[in-house]
Amino acid sequence: MFSGKNVVLCVTGGIAAYKAAELARRFFKAGARVDVIMTEAATQFITPLTFQSLLHTPVAIDMFELRTDMEIGHVALAKRADVIVVAPATANTIAKMSCGVADNMVTTTVLAAKCPVVVAPAMNDNMWTHPATQENVDRLRRRGALVVGPAVGLLAEGGVGEGRLAEVDDIVGATRLALGGHGSLQGRRLLVTAGSTREPLDPVRFISNRSSGKMGYAIAQAALDRGAEVTLITGPVSIAPPYGAKVISVLSVADLRVALHEESQRSDALIMAAAPVDFRAEQPATSKIKKEETGDRWTPVLVRNPDLVAEIGARRPERLKVLVGFAAETDDLLANAEAKLRAKALDLIVANDVSATDAGFEVDTNRVTMLGADGSRESLPLMSKDEVAARIVDRVAAELGLGS
Ligand code: PMT
Repeated sequence: MFSGKNVVLCVTGGIAAYKAAELARRFFKAGARVDVIMTEAATQFITPLTFQSLLHTPVAIDMFELRTDMEIGHVALAKRADVIVVAPATANTIAKMSCGVADNMVTTTVLAAKCPVVVAPAMNDNMWTHPATQENVDRLRRRGALVVGPAVGLLAEGGVGEGRLAEVDDIVGATRLALGGHGSLQGRRLLVTAGSTREPLDPVRFISNRSSGKMGYAIAQAALDRGAEVTLITGPVSIAPPYGAKVISVLSVADLRVALHEESQRSDALIMAAAPVDFRAEQPATSKIKKEETGDRWTPVLVRNPDLVAEIGARRPERLKVLVGFAAETDDLLANAEAKLRAKALDLIVANDVSATDAGFEVDTNRVTMLGADGSRESLPLMSKDEVAARIVDRVAAELGLGS
């Protein structure tokens, strides 16, 4: 998402300025071209040389410096920026941005820019909660700025409060969200399910499967990258959700069913990448089953769980224009997938051979064939789940009549 993008990173004079070095490095590693602008105050906390060493580009500080490789600094930087990130953003700079002050390179560049702006406040907690700061931040939000943080945590002056710079991961995620904001899916709501479910046998044991959530989370990220509003219904997984997604955590198929029926009413597309467990204990024990009492064999009675995506397909909500399922198969991949496509009244099914060691559950890659209700078939070679996700979401955009 950052490859080839111009990120203008504005660093202002707070103790958290040192974290901007890590932020600059992350953008640079993600393939962005990073221009750094610092206020004079920021140079008291971190030297321009740090950024120049990381990025191999000069750092802009003085508004009236005429750089050989461009017009007047602030205008040129503003014109080529795909996104401006002000991190850390002090109360002072936030106030100036809110009032349109242009008295240094940072505020002048922000005022001259037309691109999305991400603001990561960092300051003393009393300064953050002061009505003046809150009004200034609200005004920036109303103008479309994406404000990330501050977090609650240890403050530089000691004590704990709300004013700590947001985590670098969150600032990177917010920037990625800002970059995707005007994509092909802008204004559309996508619902994605991911991960497995847990069907209890007793208070300690449950039936589940190996779904890590990676495929579904990649799909949610790809949808955000294209400007969609994303709701992610997820089983228990050990990976972080993409920044900007509304996350609903579920455990059992019963929980998933409630969330799915509710959220699908207000979604334009549903992509069912989750691996709901097909069976549950007819009567989960209310206390832990003692192996001493079961003897050598324990045969809990299992009953079928409802087929959730088939239920949606049978009574499709009016707004839900695109319904996408997956087929996790070990044999007769395409025949089984085609059968599920028809039986569940899907528009598209993504077939993956989960017996392969480099595809399906847990791994970072997948090898899929997309089968359309229109009879189309598109087999993709082995690729990362991020790349598979992009292809699936672009296909959903096309099904919605939108360009990718
Ligand atoms: O999460 P990862 O580790 O990245 O692994 C990715 C994945 C292998 C889980 C994913 O690529 C995948 O194949 N997901 C679907 C797994 C699954 O349940 O496939 P299925 O063929 O059993 O089900 C077919 C479709 O019906 C799926 O869209 C499934 O979400 C849905 N389903 C299944 C059972 C059920 N009770 N209700 C459902 O809605």
